[in-house]
Amino acid sequence: MTQTNSSISKRPYGTTASGQAVEEYTLTNANGVEGKIITFGGIITSLRVPDRKGSMADVVLGFTNLTDYETKSPYFGALIGRYGNRIGKASFMLDGAQYTLALNDGPNSLHGGVKGFDKKVWSAKEGKSDTGIALELSYLSPDGEEGYPGNLSVTVTYTLTNDNAIRIDYSATTDKTTVVNLTNHSYFNLAGNGSGTIYDHIVQIYADRYTPVSGTLIPTGELAPVAGTPFDFRSPKVVNGGIRSGHQQMVYGRGYDHNFVLNRKTDNALEIAARVYDPSSGRAVEVWTTEPAIQFYTSNFVDATLVGSSGGIYRQGDAFCLETQHYPDSPNQPAFPTTTLKPGDTYNTTTVYKFSAD
Ligand code: BGC
Repeated sequence: MTQTNSSISKRPYGTTASGQAVEEYTLTNANGVEGKIITFGGIITSLRVPDRKGSMADVVLGFTNLTDYETKSPYFGALIGRYGNRIGKASFMLDGAQYTLALNDGPNSLHGGVKGFDKKVWSAKEGKSDTGIALELSYLSPDGEEGYPGNLSVTVTYTLTNDNAIRIDYSATTDKTTVVNLTNHSYFNLAGNGSGTIYDHIVQIYADRYTPVSGTLIPTGELAPVAGTPFDFRSPKVVNGGIRSGHQQMVYGRGYDHNFVLNRKTDNALEIAARVYDPSSGRAVEVWTTEPAIQFYTSNFVDATLVGSSGGIYRQGDAFCLETQHYPDSPNQPAFPTTTLKPGDTYNTTTVYKFSAD
């Protein structure tokens, strides 16, 4: 592979419907791996990594223009907040007060509400370190935004490292007790964006248990063993092996759309959560995180109505998401690890997507 100098550049990407200017940053590492990130939603719009022969392909689904991201995106590549995944009945109690959120997913609230962090324009600052090129994004979410309490000050730093990883460091502080659960919603296809489904990809998830859901995809509260179910990815398994199972959970999710409870050894060091390998290209991604759980989603609700950056339509199963997170609906489930953030404390999590090929 040719060694080049790592670099970062920016260009105007467009203007939102409400008149805010959006920039696109291009980060390139010493191996020529290139990521594009826009300040709207902190969206990773493109990520070009080599296959086993050194050929580059864009391994994330996306669009070619801002309007599509603003109006029809199923969260392609976006930063998700204040609360990744669902909160049941779009409400929760905190310190004796009831908070009501927008209903944007049947009877529930999904991914921070109607105008979550995926639809905000973030302030950007370029950075460079020994390990790679960085883009620091920040956003101040005002008290009451989308129904959540507290002014929440959020910083997310993307680093494209010279060992072909995207590292995402999330931090947040609040001036009122609140809940927070941040993630990134990239849709990956290791054979290349637009190349078909990911059903031949081989997945390993380091989880003995997962959180089964009700018909509206809210956890029942049970931490169920994956053993003997299509959710057993403790050894590498092809997606096709289980995705057509008649298991009731698979029917609810229309495929994989479940939160896996990671087998953590420490409370918050970076540990491996998952690995996905595409036998056709040889590309692999490892996901490392400080979070307790990960949502494995096989783009079940992507239904051929979107024309993407590949030039073609996206269909069900064309990508997988591995969203590191706390469990869905944690504010309503006291037995789950807490998502409460108090004034004076700092929310800090890190997730790394590390690419390789063989
Ligand atoms: C959820 C899915 C949802 C998707 C896109 C995932 O995190 O678990 O149910 O359809 O995001 O909205």
